[in-house]
Amino acid sequence: MNNGLEDVVAAETVLSDVRGAEGQLIIRGHPLSALAGHWTFEQTAHLLFSNFFDDLPDAMTFATRLAEARSEVFEITRKQLDSLAELPVYDGMRAAMAMLPDGIVLSDALRLLAAPAVLLPALIRAQAGDAVIAPTVGTGHAADVIHMLGRSDGAKALDTYLVTVSDHGLNASTFAARVVASTQAGLTSSVLAGLGALKGPLHGGAPGPVIDMLDAISANGDSKGWIDRTLDDGERLMGFGHRIYRTRDPRADALKTALLSFDHVGPRLRFAEGVERVALDALHRRKPDRVLETNVEFYTALLLEAVGFPKRAFTGVFAMGRIAGWLAHAREQALTGRLIRPASRYVEPVTRSAA
Ligand code: ACO
Repeated sequence: MNNGLEDVVAAETVLSDVRGAEGQLIIRGHPLSALAGHWTFEQTAHLLFSNFFDDLPDAMTFATRLAEARSEVFEITRKQLDSLAELPVYDGMRAAMAMLPDGIVLSDALRLLAAPAVLLPALIRAQAGDAVIAPTVGTGHAADVIHMLGRSDGAKALDTYLVTVSDHGLNASTFAARVVASTQAGLTSSVLAGLGALKGPLHGGAPGPVIDMLDAISANGDSKGWIDRTLDDGERLMGFGHRIYRTRDPRADALKTALLSFDHVGPRLRFAEGVERVALDALHRRKPDRVLETNVEFYTALLLEAVGFPKRAFTGVFAMGRIAGWLAHAREQALTGRLIRPASRYVEPVTRSAA
């Protein structure tokens, strides 16, 4: 029995391959380095969706239909936005997505793919007391998010981020989405399972705490002392360590490159690089037999901060990208027709007789 299911193969997939020993991520035959910064999120989602929907159009039409789906989601959810804005932003987004139809065809998938991109900016603005901004047709997906946030730059970096996190093997949220899809439930149900799993700090909840860590170290002024004390207290350093990678997470470098496109991040980036060096040194000293390296969340935090997202929205932006993978995996799993139903070992051996 293996509590964390490490090394258990629970699905065959054509979607992505996480090569932990080499630090490589392959998405449908393409190394991440060939996609991030080169392909748009729409093109990447189209690649992930191919062969999983009967009526998948060419990539350009797909992008247009995704833009139309953003408008559709805005219309479906706009009346509820004020009350949803009273919830934490991730919970408000999840509640709004639960209202979407629970089908399995392309139009259902497009609405879901569009939903975080529309809902996050709307909820962020509603929470700040600002008027929400409707999506526009004729704009790229990432550029439309920037527009709906009321900002003007960062679209290219956000696009790179969304592509970078679009799929990543059988991570916890993707597995959760596949389990639900294996019951032949609809895509909304699968995506809600993925959203639930992504929220936790050991998965998609880490980048907000990365900013907290950087801010605490900056206020303290002593990186080494702060990191040593944190580890002495038995706490984990957010943005470090990974279940699969036994070397540096390739996504960290893709995001670091995207960060360089911002003029204003220089001092923050240099400070973060310094913290990273001290953290890696401390982790290597304390766990010499365990490879603990920087993971995707460290540079995610810096990139999303530079784009202008508040840190409470970071996990939602992760969902905005990963939802492409969840949807493709859900279809792939459902098409196998096989219910996922593992066994458990009963560890209370006494058979009690009925009173
Ligand atoms: N800081 C300090 N110690 C760590 C860290 C860390 N970030 N990561 C692992 N360790 C230690 C553990 O305490 C453990 O020590 P022990 O054997 O003495 O108990 C050892 O390294 C192995 O850790 P595991 O939890 O078994 O490793 P696992 O593969 O399950 O963990 C995980 C992966 C959950 C990501 C872990 O590294 C972690 O908690 N990191 C911090 C949170 C984080 O950055 N999450 C985002 C992950 S990326 C993503 O999901 C997109």
